[in-house]
Amino acid sequence: MKIALVGGTGDIGTGFAVRWAANHEIIIGSRKADKARESAAMVLQMLDQKANIWGTDNGRAIIEAEVVVLCVPYENLSSVTGDLLGCYKSQVVISPIVPMGYNGTFFHYNPPAEGSAALMAKSMLPGGAKIVSAFHTICAAALQAKERELKADTFLCGDDQEALELVTGLALEIKSLRPLKAGPLAASSMMESLTPMLLNTARKNKIKDAGISIVSERCICRNTAPLPHAATRNTEGNCCYDC
Ligand SMILES: NC(=O)c1ccc[n+]([C@@H]2O[C@H](COP(=O)([O-])OP(=O)(O)OC[C@H]3O[C@@H](n4cnc5c(N)ncnc54)[C@H](OP(=O)(O)O)[C@@H]3O)[C@@H](O)[C@H]2O)c1
Repeated sequence: MKIALVGGTGDIGTGFAVRWAANHEIIIGSRKADKARESAAMVLQMLDQKANIWGTDNGRAIIEAEVVVLCVPYENLSSVTGDLLGCYKSQVVISPIVPMGYNGTFFHYNPPAEGSAALMAKSMLPGGAKIVSAFHTICAAALQAKERELKADTFLCGDDQEALELVTGLALEIKSLRPLKAGPLAASSMMESLTPMLLNTARKNKIKDAGISIVSERCICRNTAPLPHAATRNTEGNCCYDC
């Protein structure tokens, strides 16, 4: 698949490029094509030159792609999307964007009038775009460490079943990450709002590269087997294959 990372020169974009380059053509987008090319060269180096990654401006990246990931800060979602509307066809558009602020004491969720960043993106993009809200609570540093097995879940919201399946597949390509469906796009504010909660909790408790995982209190393996994390996961909503 051709995946465009809009603003892919940043932290989470680099993480996605590192994780998905094995199976896909990755197009790193930037406001400046040169910066995108440099970023692509850096990721290629991280992957021992064994990947199909290139860089260009955000507009061309979107035009070329089947899947678009919005990797820009919330504050820039409106301008980046508005300026590039003509580049969209009917791509799957993934939003990991979290609108949040910091009041000097704690991070707080700060959604737009549409209800969430994903709903705002939907309100701006052409009708054919299939928005999936995902990856909000995944730590970019953990994504960039390509061999690291993630212990977290990621929560997916969307209205298009095929797009949800496609993003579920992409999430499963990230070692041990468990994708969990969390409802329609209208529910995406709840997923986005987990991030400030996670950051506050991580700071207060000194947890590095924090993530979120849903557990089942019925899980028997938690009491017994020190299985590798990957082996204790499935995508059926159960926490392990034995439970
Ligand atoms: N970092 C994380 O751990 C993490 C985790 C989950 C979700 N997220 C979400 O993912 C998104 C990206 O996060 P990030 O940490 O990767 O952000 P970032 O590194 O701060 O920025 C990403 C890219 O956004 C572009 N950008 C910056 N200012 C811009 C502007 N004024 N107009 C247009 N583009 C601009 C830049 O690309 P160019 O200069 O190349 O154009 C930059 O490299 C955010 O919405 C965040 O909430 C982040």
